Amino acid sequence: MTRPHLVLTRRWPASVEAELALRYDVELNEDDQPMDAPALRSAMQRADALCPTVTDNIDADVIGVGEPGARLIASFGVGFNHIDLEAAVEQGVAVTNTPDVLTDCTADLTIALMLMCARRAGEGERELRAGRWAGWRPTHLTGTRVTGKTLGIIGMGRIGQAVARRAVHGFGMRLLCYNRSPVAPEVLEAFDARQVSDVDQVLASADFVSLHCPANEDTHHLIDARGLALMPDHAHLVNTARGNVVDEAALSQALRDGAIRGAGLDVYEREPYLHEGLLALDNVVLLPHLGSATIESRTAMGMRVLHNLDAFFAGEALPDGVVG
Ligand code: DGY
Repeated sequence: MTRPHLVLTRRWPASVEAELALRYDVELNEDDQPMDAPALRSAMQRADALCPTVTDNIDADVIGVGEPGARLIASFGVGFNHIDLEAAVEQGVAVTNTPDVLTDCTADLTIALMLMCARRAGEGERELRAGRWAGWRPTHLTGTRVTGKTLGIIGMGRIGQAVARRAVHGFGMRLLCYNRSPVAPEVLEAFDARQVSDVDQVLASADFVSLHCPANEDTHHLIDARGLALMPDHAHLVNTARGNVVDEAALSQALRDGAIRGAGLDVYEREPYLHEGLLALDNVVLLPHLGSATIESRTAMGMRVLHNLDAFFAGEALPDGVVG
């Protein structure tokens, strides 16, 4: 029996690639260069399942390549804003993602960013490496205490709740949250949290705001110049969700003007490019989309794709079906 042909658009952890190769005819992207639109279309055409990741633009042209064409897009990553889901439904192509297994690592990195910007860790490291550290003194790089402050979480899904757990139980933070739908009372109770009915209330009242909402047309530039102006000037913004939830130009301006004190970013509007204003600022911590970047999470993400592939080719229900 011929084995289903998979096309992986990027390199995956070696242990997962090896596991896939036991059951499938796997085509690897040996040099790990991003695929452009023609390459993605051609991959979709020759694969039985296309295995892209969050940086591949899987638009209607890729999905609609026509016969034979892959019947499954098994994406490596929890976010699916890079895939045109309407086109997938229209073409009868199933789509899966990899939820749950990156929740803790992304929450850990969110806390790292919050601490880094509050405690000016990036500035300190840059100063020390540049040989500019003149030694301890009472006024040197004084940051902001995190313990006991108010954290505003926008998006109380899996990752938002994992951040809440760390912030409330680890740092004694008070929690305020905004979520499109009501958060279960037992969840609010567990964090002694208050859910408010609009984003503005979070922005106006929190010392730290952390974004955990999905990227879609409702959340595009959810944090814009108007929203940033509502934040107190001592506040910090952390984004480990998706770049386009924040208007990067407006954020860069707010940080430059001191309208907010700091920010910690892991995601950007046009990755891997950053708004040039951000690079020049000391009060922003910039990480290169590292949320799920642990060997444990990345391996588990790959294995999650494998389970979806196995279910699909066995004709079973998809464990992580986004479409289909
Ligand atoms: C995802 O999976 O959506 C992340 O952004 C990559 O970790």
